[in-house]
Amino acid sequence: MGSAKKRLLITGGSSYLGQYLVPLAKSQYDVCYTYFQSDPLRLDGGVQLDVRDAGAVRELILACEPQAVIHLAGSNRSDDMVSVIREGTAHIVEAVEEGGIRLVHMSSDVIFDGRYPPYHEVDRPTPIHAYGQAKADAESVVSDFADHVIIRTSLIYGLTLMDRGTEWMVAALRQGQPVKLFDDQMRQPVWTETLSLACLELVFADYRGILNVAGGQSMSRAEFGLKLLDWWGIADRGSLSIGPGDPEWPADTRLDLSLAKELLKTRLLGVDDVIALHRT
Ligand SMILES: NC(=O)c1ccc[n+]([C@@H]2O[C@H](COP(=O)([O-])OP(=O)(O)OC[C@H]3O[C@@H](n4cnc5c(N)ncnc54)[C@H](OP(=O)(O)O)[C@@H]3O)[C@@H](O)[C@H]2O)c1
Repeated sequence: MGSAKKRLLITGGSSYLGQYLVPLAKSQYDVCYTYFQSDPLRLDGGVQLDVRDAGAVRELILACEPQAVIHLAGSNRSDDMVSVIREGTAHIVEAVEEGGIRLVHMSSDVIFDGRYPPYHEVDRPTPIHAYGQAKADAESVVSDFADHVIIRTSLIYGLTLMDRGTEWMVAALRQGQPVKLFDDQMRQPVWTETLSLACLELVFADYRGILNVAGGQSMSRAEFGLKLLDWWGIADRGSLSIGPGDPEWPADTRLDLSLAKELLKTRLLGVDDVIALHRT
C-alpha cells in the first residue's frame, strides 16, 4: 500500500539551507533530495544530480514523482555559478511544467542594486553583479511557469551549524589573514529554521508569485558578522577591520516583509531573538 504522505523533491539538499530543510521536511513529507559533489546528510532519498543536465533533471522528476519541488541548488559558491543557476533553473522549470508540479524557488535580495530599499514584491530586479544577474534571470524563467512561488531572502545563518561565510571568516582570522566587515551594507539575516518553516508553509499553499521572507531585524553586515563571531566564541580578531564595502555589492537590500507577515504563521525572528532563544 502506498504512503499517504505527499512527496517533495528538494534540489540542493546538501546546501547550507538544505541541511536544515531536508530533515524538517522529512517529518511531514516523503522527501527526495539532491546533492552534487557530496551528501553531508546521508539520509534515505538522497540522489546525485547535476542540474545542468536537462535529461538527468527530467529523469529524476519522473522517477521521484514529487507533488512539489523546492529548488535551492546553485549559489554564489557553486563552480560554474551562472550555468548552474540559470540553465539549472530552466531545466527544473521545464520538468515541473511537463508534470504540472508546483515549484518553490529560492531567490535572493542581491537581485537588487541596493539603492532604493525597502524592496517590495512588485519591484523588478536591478542586479549589479554576476550572481545577482543569474538569480534575476532564474526568477524570470520561474515566473513564466504558472504554479510557482519565488522566495526572496537575505543572508542565511544558523546557530548549530556554522554558515559558510562565517566558516570562511573564522579560517582567515585564525591564519591572521585580513578580513573586512562592511558597515555600510544593510541586510536582514534569516535563521535557517525561519526560512525552512516558510518554505514548508508555502509549498502546498494557494499563494503564487514572489514573496519576501527574511529576518525581522535589519543590520549591517559588520554588525551581523560580529554577532556571529561572538556566538561562536571566536576571539582571534587581530586581522579584522570594519569599514565601507565593495561597491560591486549592493548596499542596502532590505526587503519589505509586510506580505509575509500577513500570509505566514512562521514568525520572522531577528538575530537577537534567535540568539536569545538559543540561550534559554
Ligand atoms: N547563503 C545565503 O546567505 C543565501 C542568501 C540568499 C539566497 N540564497 C539562496 O539559497 C539557496 C541555498 O543557498 P546556500 O548558501 O545554502 O547554498 P550552498 O551551501 O552554497 O550550496 C549550494 C548547493 O548547490 C548544489 N550545487 C552546486 N552545483 C550544482 C550542480 N551543478 N547541480 C546540482 N546542484 C549543484 C550544491 O551541491 P554540493 O554541495 O553537493 O556540491 C549545494 O547543494 C541558493 O539558491 C542561494 O542562491 C542563499
